[in-house]
Amino acid sequence: MSGPILIFDSGVGGLSVVKALREQMPGAPLAYVCDNAALPYGTKPDIWLVQRIVQVCRAAVAASGARVLVVACNTASTLALDALRAALTIPVVGTVPAIKPAAALSRSGVIGLLATSATVTRPYTDNLIRDFAGHCTVVRVAADGLVEQAERLLAGEPVDGAVIDAGLAPLWHAPTLDTVVLGCTHFPLLRDRLNARAPRPVDWVDSGSAIARRVAQVAADESGGSVSGLSWATGSLRPGLQAGLATFGFAAPAVLSASVIESAM
Ligand code: DGL
Repeated sequence: MSGPILIFDSGVGGLSVVKALREQMPGAPLAYVCDNAALPYGTKPDIWLVQRIVQVCRAAVAASGARVLVVACNTASTLALDALRAALTIPVVGTVPAIKPAAALSRSGVIGLLATSATVTRPYTDNLIRDFAGHCTVVRVAADGLVEQAERLLAGEPVDGAVIDAGLAPLWHAPTLDTVVLGCTHFPLLRDRLNARAPRPVDWVDSGSAIARRVAQVAADESGGSVSGLSWATGSLRPGLQAGLATFGFAAPAVLSASVIESAM
């Protein structure tokens, strides 16, 4: 296998998975693509999203020559993994909410699922809860406002604590809740902020290290001469974000134009 490991998200959330990948596979060549022209995904209709995700990923896989695609987005993975695997010839690794480890970790049996509106209501999520957390009470919280706060953080803009408080508030109505699944890849980027604003200590659980272990199984940990650090975006970046991407080792993104995306069907 040659070519980089391509990490895909609607925005900067996939960088939380990049961090886990770099820890697990320090020498692996990574590339990044964000569909920032369509951000946020979490409030968009499913039918539109599936088609868009397949188009953007096909175009980015072609542009990067990737050997593996990592869908570092819960909103995309809980909807479009089958469609992506049907459309692509390379292995596709998805990111879905870490319900199983959270259910195993919780002492009280009351866990929160903090994710986008789309992810908290998906049948895929219902099945995860049924299969792995049948003995738990799962408090599902749609916290779409946190996506924008993570984008702001990476762009060096101030994060709005009131938005974080409002996003977390429904969790605290469950007095014995002790574990929270960060079911959106943007949210681990805000972990310190979430922790600081939580009125009581809870364990925050994300999928990053599990995804990295899975990627290490499907992609050999060798560079094979592939260039690392290339990136693509579907629209122009907000000011400051290029510096944020650079801190994760990515060069300024090339633009995947609408015509390139639309022709990738
Ligand atoms: N990072 C994405 C996820 O993991 C969602 C962000 C968005 O709404 O676009 O679900």
